[in-house]
Amino acid sequence: MATIQHDVIIIGGGLAGMRAAHEALTQGGDVAMISKIYPTRSHSAAAQGGMQAALTEEDSWESHAYDTVKGSDYLGDQDAIEILCREGVDDIIAMERMGVIFNRDESGKIDARAFGGTSAKRTCFVADQTGQALLHVMWEQLLRLGLKTYDEWFVTDLLVENNRCVGSVAMQISTGQLHLVRAKATVLCTGGAGHIYAPSTNGLAVTADGLGMAYRAGASLMDMEGVQHHPTTLKSNGVLITEGARGEGAYLLNSKGERFMENYAPNMLELASRDVVSRAETTEILEGRGVDGTVFIDLRHLGRELITTKLAQIYELARDYANCNVIEEPLPIQPGYHYLMGGIKTDVDGRTWDVSGNNKWKGVEALFAAGETANVSVHGGNRLGGNSLLDTVVFGRRTGAGAVEYAKSVDYGEISEASVKDTEARIKSLFDRPDGVRSATLRREMGAAMNDGIAVFRNEESMNIALQKVRALKEKLPEVSLHNSGRIFNTDLLAYFELENMMDVAEAIALSALSRKESRGAHARTDFPDRDDENWLKHTLATKGNSGPEISYLPVTITKWEPTVRSY
Ligand code: FUM
Repeated sequence: MATIQHDVIIIGGGLAGMRAAHEALTQGGDVAMISKIYPTRSHSAAAQGGMQAALTEEDSWESHAYDTVKGSDYLGDQDAIEILCREGVDDIIAMERMGVIFNRDESGKIDARAFGGTSAKRTCFVADQTGQALLHVMWEQLLRLGLKTYDEWFVTDLLVENNRCVGSVAMQISTGQLHLVRAKATVLCTGGAGHIYAPSTNGLAVTADGLGMAYRAGASLMDMEGVQHHPTTLKSNGVLITEGARGEGAYLLNSKGERFMENYAPNMLELASRDVVSRAETTEILEGRGVDGTVFIDLRHLGRELITTKLAQIYELARDYANCNVIEEPLPIQPGYHYLMGGIKTDVDGRTWDVSGNNKWKGVEALFAAGETANVSVHGGNRLGGNSLLDTVVFGRRTGAGAVEYAKSVDYGEISEASVKDTEARIKSLFDRPDGVRSATLRREMGAAMNDGIAVFRNEESMNIALQKVRALKEKLPEVSLHNSGRIFNTDLLAYFELENMMDVAEAIALSALSRKESRGAHARTDFPDRDDENWLKHTLATKGNSGPEISYLPVTITKWEPTVRSY
């Protein structure tokens, strides 16, 4: 059996994975990264508008933390949020010193634009291609440090012995060969769950892989009902139109040409937090003041010069995908699936297990997670734009350090070749089934069910329909057959593995959402329209049981900021 072995294996080559690898390598670890796509193609490159941190003297990390707590609708853990906002300042400076060419203000300092839900302009940016700039600079650094990577390898399963992750099974996509991957510490940085929904702003590679594997391995998924719809996406394909456009001053208009945000968030208007703006847009559309399921973003008053420099990418996206010249006409947009606030429950060093030994939540020793895959609880019920890039670098760094430290303290665990044989048998049974349903069909139906049932607004009935549909589709997984039975670059086979992960995670999202009987952040229930701190100021945990996810709860950590009424 082909085997590879490294003390620390990082699965996922986006910004969180790269930052974790950078830190682990810098600390002298034996580190390797497995990525199902070439790392610079990772979805982090699609983050457009920027990355938040309080860099100026007039601003403070405490103010950033308060905005983040309020944005989270008080569901974020405040100890983790303090770390994000305090350490994030140095992390941005570190990225700049590594080579990220942030936009500058007139005095030559790093410029910052306004973003939703923030009391100061603190979103540092590289035009409207911030994620791309960060990812490429970090990649250059990893090449310089000589990181060992396994590009275009797909991890199918985590291997767990006595509740300790001892490695994984990975398929080299170019050959189809399975490998046993031994590791003292395994770090999941596989991004979110984008294609559980259709449409989605996410790149095609974002298919809940780490979330699904960790859930099956016994880790807890936390606050999975926290699904973020971004207010400005294109209807035809979900392509993102950055919040940076509103940060630069763009308006949202309804079919009557009214700036409708005046009625929903009179102080912050278009720069209220994302959940508030997405609900406002949806209400306008539902009440008949939209056009064909959309409202409009209007950039015309910003002028050609600003649009073609600071917002050049969205100028091109609107032109190419919506046939719209944003210099001259408003662009139709709608809320669309963008981000998963929920994820694998971790502590602030990326550990998925409870090191206190009190078993407050279920986790897997030696398994770490960072970035959108994880839920260290800095976003709570609603993430502020620009805080996810920050999350990837702050907690990517801390998790890389945590993984190296852990790996130094343990030996390799025993690993059984039987696990690889299980994966091989699963593949064979797919190849042996000549006729059956296509995985693409099931995936399309799942996307529609989630989009309809667990949307900007949801209720018991809509969520139940989505859950039953997902469960019915999941039952059809054993009927899937592949049209390609070769082993070389078999994307049909990959799509099947991705679908397995997405179905498990979709079920966890639906059940977590049904369980939370209140409205908080992006979880807006028409049947429970109010936030209910007395009963629901707590995290939802979904762990794998015998017949699907089992739900339990964990207290929210409050340090400085008691919940109050949230308005913008
Ligand atoms: O709108 C945006 O540029 C997205 C940023 C984010 O999700 O953080």
